[in-house]
Amino acid sequence: MFNDASSPLSLLSTRRSGKPRDLVAPGPDGAQLDHILAIAARTPDHGKLAPWRFVIVGDEQRDAFARLLVESCRAEKPEATQKELDGLDQFARQAPALVVVLSSPRPDSPIPLWEQELSAGAATMNLLHAAHAMGFAGGWLTGWAAFSPRVRDAFGAAPERIAGFVFLGTPGRPLDERPRPDMARIVSHWTP
Ligand SMILES: Cc1cc2nc3c(=O)[nH]c(=O)nc-3n(C[C@H](O)[C@H](O)[C@H](O)COP(=O)(O)O)c2cc1C
Repeated sequence: MFNDASSPLSLLSTRRSGKPRDLVAPGPDGAQLDHILAIAARTPDHGKLAPWRFVIVGDEQRDAFARLLVESCRAEKPEATQKELDGLDQFARQAPALVVVLSSPRPDSPIPLWEQELSAGAATMNLLHAAHAMGFAGGWLTGWAAFSPRVRDAFGAAPERIAGFVFLGTPGRPLDERPRPDMARIVSHWTP
């Protein structure tokens, strides 16, 4: 079962990110994206707050998204070089599909902010797993744009934060494996 490429364990054991700039069509269509996001929302969340949300940036919005990044960078970082601005323009246009994941915590809740933010990370991870299970690849990026107040304000309002830009599509070339953690270093038995 473990060797069956479509088995759950095999999917979980083989998922890896695709570099967003290498992702090509097809990306998930509307129904597939809805399914991916429904799976992403099946995420542990203390207090049932759903302290995250997903904003789809469609094909028709990519130009505006690119303008937002470039103009925000010009305004917040006057020393930015043309190369940086061009990089942001390319960033905004890569891969067939884009979902912006927002950490959307409820400050009035007794659930600690840390726990709410952890849940946003978990939802993003679930999104990547769902995309992989559907035969797509995804890449979770942040970078300058994720920390720009102007970009954040275009997607949400404080205390919301951008947890990541998740680009989705089909790998244009075989995905590179990367070194994985040495399990002996990260797993131990507690000795009181
Ligand atoms: C919160 C977060 C932000 C990230 N931001 C970036 C980024 O801006 N640029 C980048 O090259 N990789 C970034 N990464 C790493 C990529 O997602 C990376 O390709 C990924 O960790 C590969 O792991 P995988 O093969 O297990 O999917 C980020 C990862 C996380 C968790």
